[in-house]
Amino acid sequence: MTASLPSRRLRSLGLRYQRDAGGARLEILDQAALPDREEWRDGAEPEAMIGHIRALRVRGAPMIGVCAALCLAVQADRGAAPARLREDARALRAARPTAVNLMEAVDRLLPLCAHPEALVQAAEALFEEEVARSEGMATRGAALVQPGEGILTHCNTGGLATSGAGTALAVIRRAHEQGKGVHVWVDETRPLLQGGRLTAWELGRLGIPYHLLPDGAAGLLFARGRVQRVLVGADRIAGNGDFANKIGTFPLAVLARHHGVPFHVVAPRTTVDPSCPDGTAIPIEERDADEVRGLVGRLRWAPADAPVFNPAFDVTPAALVTSWILDDAVLDAEDVAAGALA
Ligand code: MRU
Repeated sequence: MTASLPSRRLRSLGLRYQRDAGGARLEILDQAALPDREEWRDGAEPEAMIGHIRALRVRGAPMIGVCAALCLAVQADRGAAPARLREDARALRAARPTAVNLMEAVDRLLPLCAHPEALVQAAEALFEEEVARSEGMATRGAALVQPGEGILTHCNTGGLATSGAGTALAVIRRAHEQGKGVHVWVDETRPLLQGGRLTAWELGRLGIPYHLLPDGAAGLLFARGRVQRVLVGADRIAGNGDFANKIGTFPLAVLARHHGVPFHVVAPRTTVDPSCPDGTAIPIEERDADEVRGLVGRLRWAPADAPVFNPAFDVTPAALVTSWILDDAVLDAEDVAAGALA
């Protein structure tokens, strides 16, 4: 279908894509199985990819956008009819509600559904674009990090969460590579333990020193003066600088302010949504009660019928943010108030 295009092979920590004379293939590293098992899953079929996104087998705001786009590219390469592609695109777009990168990626491709080659090229370019955006964030963010800092982070914002090195974790990685001797404090990130399972796994592979802590231990860590900086990612940044990120981010911003510690949000421009004037307009995903009653599929510790509140994200007000580290700029409160995100 796209035989006139040169073959492409795209690889990241959590994604394998190949398009050549044999057709197009897409696989994702199953993030729900990590760190115990490194299993790759087929992501070529939209229905399967939607399942992977919903079950967090693939996750992280930029990564789900890239995966949705490459899934559509595989379908276009395999000759899917434009109407079918549009239907699949809309279904992928709705797989999760909070990360705007997913909507942004699909919206770029929707007008191309009748032009398979253009769609494939746009999807592949999106992968490369996020790699470059990671690089921009890493460079700008690492310049702020001082030698010997203890840096607290939440959730997973590394190579599993984007097609590049990541967002907040890419900044930490760059500071480590620059020999700044940073120490990372990793919130385990209840309920799905993206910190304990994924960030710890990535930091271990990279040889970056860290300690894992239960989310509730952050206050004591701040009080003991062990945190000099907080770096987190975002799933959507509103025009006024409020941002949604993994549940538990907002309390860290409050703790940081209380202790006079700089608190930064690190995200690519593709995470900024100027159509949300402030954080109240960001849709917040609520997930299955069993995720809080225990560890899904492994263990349950709460009563099976315990009523549960399980929002996947919270909103941190702009007033608590020291700076917004984007791939193309570092913004402060004055920039944001002047409309730099709007
Ligand atoms: O529910 P998840 O694991 O997809 O949530 C991910 C986060 O909250 C990340 O911090 C965010 O996507 C930014 S990572 C590049």
